[in-house]
Amino acid sequence: MDFSELKNNAEKELEKIVDSKELKEFSDKYLSKKGEIRKFFSFVKDLALEEKKILGQEINEFATVLESKVLEMEKEMRKMEREKKEEGEKIDIAAPGKVIETGHLHPMTQVRREMEKIFESMGFSVVEGQEIEDEWHNFDALNIPEGHPARDALSLGKTFYLKNKNVLRTQTSSAQVRYMKKMKPPIRIVVPGRVYRYETTDASHEINFYQIEGLLIDENASVANLKAVLQRFLELFFKRKVEIRLRPSYFPFTEPSFEVDMRCTVCEGKGCSSCKKTGWVEILGTGMVHPNVIKNGGLDPKKYKGFAFGISIDRPTMMKHKINDIRLFHSGNLKFLKQF
Ligand code: DAH
Repeated sequence: MDFSELKNNAEKELEKIVDSKELKEFSDKYLSKKGEIRKFFSFVKDLALEEKKILGQEINEFATVLESKVLEMEKEMRKMEREKKEEGEKIDIAAPGKVIETGHLHPMTQVRREMEKIFESMGFSVVEGQEIEDEWHNFDALNIPEGHPARDALSLGKTFYLKNKNVLRTQTSSAQVRYMKKMKPPIRIVVPGRVYRYETTDASHEINFYQIEGLLIDENASVANLKAVLQRFLELFFKRKVEIRLRPSYFPFTEPSFEVDMRCTVCEGKGCSSCKKTGWVEILGTGMVHPNVIKNGGLDPKKYKGFAFGISIDRPTMMKHKINDIRLFHSGNLKFLKQF
């Protein structure tokens, strides 16, 4: 090949180069050790001395020029490419931000906190019991003696026993005596928390659910106080006037004991499927603390009286949001949870 042809080709190719990648390919093709120019030197080697000199010089000069051109172009291209990249990375502070989806509290947690706030506004402190209880606090201290059907695991009772005979508390009432021993009257506490029962699950039964226990111990506590506190609580919770009635009932740890019913808010008492056509909805259990329980709490039942109540958190949450299946609470179903 003729050297001027090589020169021509190289110059033409160089003109067409648009980026540093192409430039590198060009440089490899012509200027590297195995490149076209070196190849030409080996051809020159066999020429006559005079010819060798002239052509050798010409090749050398061309190589030097080409090298410096390539170097210059490389610098320019790098600069161009850097500027282009920076352009793409510019931050547009006026562009709308990405919306990050945040979660929210579980509906039952929302309701629990609402209940706590209401009781706090009436002077009650929120305290915690323990989910693993000994039998004494869950049963004996509450006047539920050995052999009582409620203590049974499988037939009448619904207690989960642990291997060491401790239990998963079946009621938040188990905290009553613990706090009587810890605090000095007047005592005004609520104990929210999870309780466990051996249940066959269905739309209204779960093996674990939530309660909020209330306990007031003072020298002059009365059923009238009890009724007033509960009525006020329910009105603040349901944000409306409510009518309640106390129905005689039985709990071993209260005497007298009552179930509290609330006039059905769905049908206003006329009778519907929510209230099983009775016009009333059973809402909680309560009563005056039994003297034996006060004694077990280390206090003198002649001096101190009190009332206690246990409210489920699940049921009012279901009433409030018209949820028809308790199992949804623990389902982890986001479609359900996102509604609240
Ligand atoms: N512990 C009872 C239950 O789980 C509810 C209850 C009833 C709590 C009467 C009380 C009470 O404090 O006085 O069914």
